Amino acid sequence: MPLADTLSTRAAPRSVATPAPLIVWTPELSVGIDEIDAQHKLLVDLLNQLHVAILTQHGSAEAMHVLHELIDYTRIHFAVEESLMRVLGYPDYEAHKASHEQLLEQVLNLQRRLIDEGQGITFELLHFLKRWLSVHIMETDRSYTPHFLARGIQARYEKPSLLRRLWSRAAPGAPR
Ligand SMILES: [Fe+2]
Repeated sequence: MPLADTLSTRAAPRSVATPAPLIVWTPELSVGIDEIDAQHKLLVDLLNQLHVAILTQHGSAEAMHVLHELIDYTRIHFAVEESLMRVLGYPDYEAHKASHEQLLEQVLNLQRRLIDEGQGITFELLHFLKRWLSVHIMETDRSYTPHFLARGIQARYEKPSLLRRLWSRAAPGAPR
């Protein structure tokens, strides 16, 4: 089974009052480093917010707003990972950075198409984003964990994620 298909997905609910999440965080999504997991959980939360915006039909403006936040946060998250890779002398830094650039380009292209063509965000698009996120977490990020841990990064961290706290301050509506 492709890695991307191992993310838990639940069918769209009959009622939109309590929509089930598009992605449920499971231990298999963990890269084994709390700070990075917290950042990935925020990406998952944003994707689930996008799902809710579509299910509750609050209009494409809200969905586009959440997509914009997802892109903004992705940029920040990638920058954090790239900084850590450089500071910790990760040997595959260049390849991983290129993968980030490709992932960001994919989602920016998608955003441009939506804006240019005036289309709404569809379930097909949501599933594209779900796969996009899973590729990032499960196929690229896991590869740096052994190196990060060997260079002294703490796997467990009791305090709340710094980036999540900063993001919450910058975007008060963001999930905590
Ligand atoms: Fe990541």
